Amino acid sequence: MPTAEPHLRFRPGILAGAAYVPPSAGLDRGEYIRLDLNEATGPLSPAVAEAIARHVRDRGIYAYPDETELRGAIAAYCGVSAEQILPTNGSDQAIDVCLRAFLGPGDTMLVARPEFAIFGLTADLLQARTLGVPYGPDLAFPYDAFRAALAERPDLIVVINPNNPTGTPVDITFIEEVARDNPTTPVIVDEAYYEFTGVTVVPLLATYPNLIVLRTFSKAFAMAGLRLGYVVAHEAVIGQLAKVRKPFDVNALAVVAGRAQLAHIDDVRIYAKTLMEVVKPTTVAFFERHGVPIWPGAANFVLVRPRDCAAVVAALRAERILVRPMSAPALSGMFRMGIGTEAEMARVMEVYAGLLATGAGAGSEP
Ligand SMILES: Cc1ncc(COP(=O)(O)O)c(C=O)c1O
Repeated sequence: MPTAEPHLRFRPGILAGAAYVPPSAGLDRGEYIRLDLNEATGPLSPAVAEAIARHVRDRGIYAYPDETELRGAIAAYCGVSAEQILPTNGSDQAIDVCLRAFLGPGDTMLVARPEFAIFGLTADLLQARTLGVPYGPDLAFPYDAFRAALAERPDLIVVINPNNPTGTPVDITFIEEVARDNPTTPVIVDEAYYEFTGVTVVPLLATYPNLIVLRTFSKAFAMAGLRLGYVVAHEAVIGQLAKVRKPFDVNALAVVAGRAQLAHIDDVRIYAKTLMEVVKPTTVAFFERHGVPIWPGAANFVLVRPRDCAAVVAALRAERILVRPMSAPALSGMFRMGIGTEAEMARVMEVYAGLLATGAGAGSEP
């Protein structure tokens, strides 16, 4: 195919940027245990499935969506006013909206690296510079280096709590310090995994109007396929961000499903609690017992470093289990694995026990 570059004047950031290619594009992931994208793997709440079916049956999808009630429901869930909520097409769009609102060519975004990739890719497109402070040993948050980097006066500060892919949690008191000491700089706090940690800066919004919180329905809410996320911020901030989003970016079925799931929030709470208090500890204990290095992190996924990562990832895939090999240099030799249901993780451990015997799955240290 001829390249468009010679005769179409794309923006330099587009030409230099990279597309995000989903790791298993084209694969029928429904045939696999899906532990590669940190999604929920349990079934959708029956109430949500029923709400979607009812909407399609009774109302069709001919009408543009109206998100007024969804905003109210999210606001009630977060304990803020509806004017402080901006629903988005997944939190990927929340990231896009915020970065486009605050970054232009030559501006600087401060973030700990490796960060959730969409931040860096979006900053690149906008020709902004990413000031990436590396995570410390054992993937701890680099508090001192991050503080030191603030002296460069970034145009945007990003804290991902907990981060993907490292799983690293960040002290709320540190985020408060950053917001307090940099009152004219936007501080984005990505809380995609909030339902698994219960830790949030939303109550601090009343004191620090430069804080901007991003959340998603893709993880604990089991709705990644519908693309629903949201921004929580001061209402004046939301007013500006709303100009960047388009009026109907959140589709009608996401609106219906989001409201239905919030009306059954206990399902989400029970799912997250069981995952974090039962299934994840059992999984982590299995790897620890066998001397395989594991970084549990604070979210619904872990990082594992077996002796031969490529061989383990391929062997798991052959057994219809998807995990994600890591490419960032700091995570070399590791794969990231979401925590599935109890039955799924029992299957993972059964398969992995066989890989311990071959040596590929054993710990990297002799
Ligand atoms: C930290 C973080 N933020 C945002 C997202 C984007 O989620 P979504 O666009 O599905 O809401 C993810 C997805 O993996 C994530 O890990």
